[in-house]
Formats: sequence, C-alpha cells, structure tokens
Amino acid sequence: MNTLHLASELRATIDRWRAAGDTVALVPTMGNLHDGHLALVAKARELATRVVVTIFVNPLQFGPNEDFGRYPRTLPDDQAKLQAAGVDLVWAPPVEEVYVNGYPPATTITVLPIADALEGAFRPGFFTGVATVVAILFASVRPDIAVFGEKDWQQLQIIRRMVDDLRFGIRIVGHPTARAADGLALSSRNQYLSTADRARAPQIHAALQAVAHGLQAGRRDFAALCAEQSAELAAAGFKPQYLEVRAPSLAQPEADDREFVVLVAALLGTTRLIDNLPVSLC
Ligand code: PAF
Repeated sequence: MNTLHLASELRATIDRWRAAGDTVALVPTMGNLHDGHLALVAKARELATRVVVTIFVNPLQFGPNEDFGRYPRTLPDDQAKLQAAGVDLVWAPPVEEVYVNGYPPATTITVLPIADALEGAFRPGFFTGVATVVAILFASVRPDIAVFGEKDWQQLQIIRRMVDDLRFGIRIVGHPTARAADGLALSSRNQYLSTADRARAPQIHAALQAVAHGLQAGRRDFAALCAEQSAELAAAGFKPQYLEVRAPSLAQPEADDREFVVLVAALLGTTRLIDNLPVSLC
C-alpha cells in the first residue's frame, strides 16, 4: 500500500490501474480511523478491484468555533489499519493539493434545500464545505464507486443529489452505521467524551429506538413523539439540538409513508453527537 500526497502522483497511479482494466472504489475520510471506516473499506473492496482511501481534514467544513485545530490527526495509525484492511492507495494531500488555487476556494458547491435543515441549521456552511471537498476528491480520484457511512445520513443524501445534479457518473454506496456493543454509533468524536459521558452516550441511540418503536406502533404525531424523547435526553443531561422524523430523502414525513429516518443531534458535555435510525414498515 502506497501513501501519496501529490495529486499528480495520485493521477499517475490511477491512470496506470485504468490502463490495466481495474475499477476504482473511493472511501473519503478525515482520518482517525475506527471500525466504522474499516467497514466502508471492506464494502469498497467487494465492489472494485482497487480501493483508494483519502485522508484529509477539510478546513472548509469546520465553523470558526468548531474543532478543526484539535481534530485528531493519526496518519501512521491510520496507515497501519488501512494496510491490514487491504487498501491499495492512501491519498493524504496537504491543503494546497486540494484547494489548488488558494484557500478558501473561489468555487464552492451548495446543495439546496437539504443543506440548510437539521445539521445545516446548526452548522452553517458545513455542507457547502463537504460537497465542495467531495467534488474535488471525486475529480482527483475519478472513482467508479464511492462508499459513505449512513451515520452521516444527511451528508449521504447531499452527495447523492450532487452526483445526480452534476452528472458525476459515480455510483454512491451507503453503508449502515457501525455501533459499539452498547449502541453508540462509532465516531472519531467519541474520544472527546469523559468517562461519565461515554457511559451515558448510548441513550442517544435509545431515544432513536423509542421513536422508531412509536412509528412501528402506528404513531404519526411526529413532533410530539420526538418531543417526548428529546425531553428524556435533556433529563439525562444531553442538550438536544434536533430530534426529527423525516422521509429517507429528508423530505417532511407523511402519515402514510412506510419508510422513515429518525435523526438526532445533541451535545453531551462539550461533545456534539449525531446519529440516526432508518425505520422501514414494509
Ligand atoms: O464524513 C467525513 O468524514 C467527511 O465529511 C468527508 C466525507 C470525508 C468530507 O470531508
């Protein structure tokens, strides 16, 4: 497994693979890899003959008061995990290899209207940062397939829409959220939790399950159902930011829908946790 930093080296390698008839799957990451990322890599390996993982902590998707500076950067550990997982190539570019004409970039991509809701309402500009960097990663790697975690459900819908609108011709594959045994969704930010907060954190998954059970039992008073679980989270010491039922596309849900997704974001201490649970009544 090679780790490359320059876009020109990346392209030369991928051009060689293409000439040999290989197909390419991309797993974009910000590094600090956990088992959730490795599950995406395993999926990518099933789908293409070559797997590229990008590791880039993208400044454009962090707000001024967010954790860009302290976001964990663990390249040697990440490389060891990716080597063991059978990855062909890691691209870990410096910022100037991504934003080639200077940072911040003059050209950005915003996917309306879903970018302004839910996460977007609490993290203005976040999805513009994500869509822009993912478009640049796609243009740099030119994969056949890209694999993303469903944990970032809204991000996945935005990327699907961008790829469709802009005719990238890349197959986007979503992979189910990897969880710890107690239900907590795996996330690089879990390591910010104190021991006491880590013990409480699975309640966020329990709140999603309670809403899912309500839907399965026939409740369609979406707002009231979510307000009940939000109050439970607040009583347990979380500061809920949103807890909502939506259609999988993130449109507002209808009473006769059979597919939903329940999405939540909450602060626990200073750590912001997000999670979601798809619910199918089919
Ligand atoms: O999900 C992430 O880790 C990031 O948002 C992504 C897709 C790698 C873009 O920086």
